Amino acid sequence: MASILTVQLGDRSYPIHIGPDLLASLGDLCKGQGLGPSCLLVTDESVDALYGDRCEQSLRAAGFRSTRAVLPPGESTKSMASLARLFDAAVTGGLERSSFIVALGGGVIGDLAGFAAATYLRGIRLVQIPTTLLAMVDSAVGGKTGINLPQGKNLVGSFHQPSLVLADLSTLRSLPPREGAAGLAEVVKYGVIADPEIWNWLEAAGDAATVLSDEALLGKLVRRSCEIKADVVRQDEREGGLRAILNFGHTFGHALEQVTGYTRYLHGEAVSLGMLYAARVSMRLTGFSGDDTRRMERLLRALQLPVEFPDLPWAELRTAMGRDKKSTSGAVRFVLAERPGVVRFGCPVEDAVLEEVWHGCR
Ligand code: NAD
Ligand code: GLY
Repeated sequence: MASILTVQLGDRSYPIHIGPDLLASLGDLCKGQGLGPSCLLVTDESVDALYGDRCEQSLRAAGFRSTRAVLPPGESTKSMASLARLFDAAVTGGLERSSFIVALGGGVIGDLAGFAAATYLRGIRLVQIPTTLLAMVDSAVGGKTGINLPQGKNLVGSFHQPSLVLADLSTLRSLPPREGAAGLAEVVKYGVIADPEIWNWLEAAGDAATVLSDEALLGKLVRRSCEIKADVVRQDEREGGLRAILNFGHTFGHALEQVTGYTRYLHGEAVSLGMLYAARVSMRLTGFSGDDTRRMERLLRALQLPVEFPDLPWAELRTAMGRDKKSTSGAVRFVLAERPGVVRFGCPVEDAVLEEVWHGCR
C-alpha cells in the first residue's frame, strides 16, 4: 500500500508517494498532476537497465510522448557537459513550456535533471523518481537542484520544487548495500534533528542488512524522514535559517569528502563521521551527553557506517571547513545537538574547540 504525504508550499505544494511497485502507476500519477503532453525521461545507465523501460511504458500507456536521455552513472555526470546534453535532448524531443522532465535515479540524476527542468525554457515541471535511499529521504524532496563545476561541488544551482515525487521502495532491492547504508546515515540524522523514535526503530532492527531488507520498515523510515524534511522546507524553503538543521554532521562531513578527494567516502559515510564529530563538539558546548554520543556511535557501527576517524592533517580539514559555503567569515558555524531530537543551528565554534575535539576523536 502506498502512503502519500504533501509538501505544503502553497500553490507549489506537491505529493510524495511512498510504497512498493509504484513505477507502473507513473503515467497515471503524472496525468493526475495535470502534466504533459510530452516529457524527457532522464536516468543513468545502471538505473536505465533496471527501470527505464518500465517507466517509459507507463508514461506512454497514459498517453504521454516520451523520449529518454541516458547518462553514465557517477558524480562526474553532474556537470555542465551533461546539462548541455539534456538541453539538446529536450530540444530534439520537442519539449515545450507545458512539457516536463522525469528524473529517474539517485541524487546525481535528481540534481542534474532538476536543474535542467529549472532552467530549460525558464523552467518546466519536474517529476522526481528517487531510486537510492539517500535520494528518497533527502535529495528528491525540497527543491535543491544543481551541478558541480571543476572548482567545486554544487556551485551552480537553483531551487526548483518538483510537481510529484514517487519513492518506489521496490527499487531499493537492487541498490548495492554500501549505497543503502550511506542513505541510512541521513535517516540517523533525522533522528538527531527531529525525532529520536527513528533511532529506536533502527536499533530494534539491529543491523543494516536487516533494515535494508525489511520493506515495511523502509517505508516507515522513508515516510518519517520525508515528513521531517517537508516540515523544515515548508518553514524555510530557501535556507534563510531553520533549513540549516538538515546539515547536521555535514560541516565536518563535507570537509572530509573534500580532503579525501571525494573518492574514499560516500556522502553518507562522511556524514556518519561528521555526526560523531558534531556530537563531540555538542558535548563541549550544549551539554549533549556522552551516553547519547556512544549510542549514536553504536547505531552507526551497526548500520555498517564508518565510526573510526582517518589519519588526516588537521590543517587541511580546518581549511576545508572554512570554505564550507554555509559558514560565515570567521568562526565555523555548526548545527549542534542538545539531545536526540533537539538541535540548534548557526552556532559559532572557536578554532581551539574544533581542534581539541579532532584530537580527541583520534
Ligand atoms: P548516485 O545518484 O550517484 O547513485 C549512487 C549509485 O547507485 C549510482 O551508481 C547509481 O547508478 C546507482 N543506483 C541508483 N539507484 C539504484 C538502484 N535502485 N539499484 C541499483 N543501483 C542504483 O548517488 P546518491 O547517493 O543517490 O546521490 C548523491 C548526490 O546527491 C550528490 O551529487 C549530492 O550532492 C546530491 N544530494 C543532493 C541533495 C539535495 O537536496 N538536492 C541532498 C543530498 C545529496
Ligand atoms: N540536503 C540539505 C537540504 O536539502 O537542505
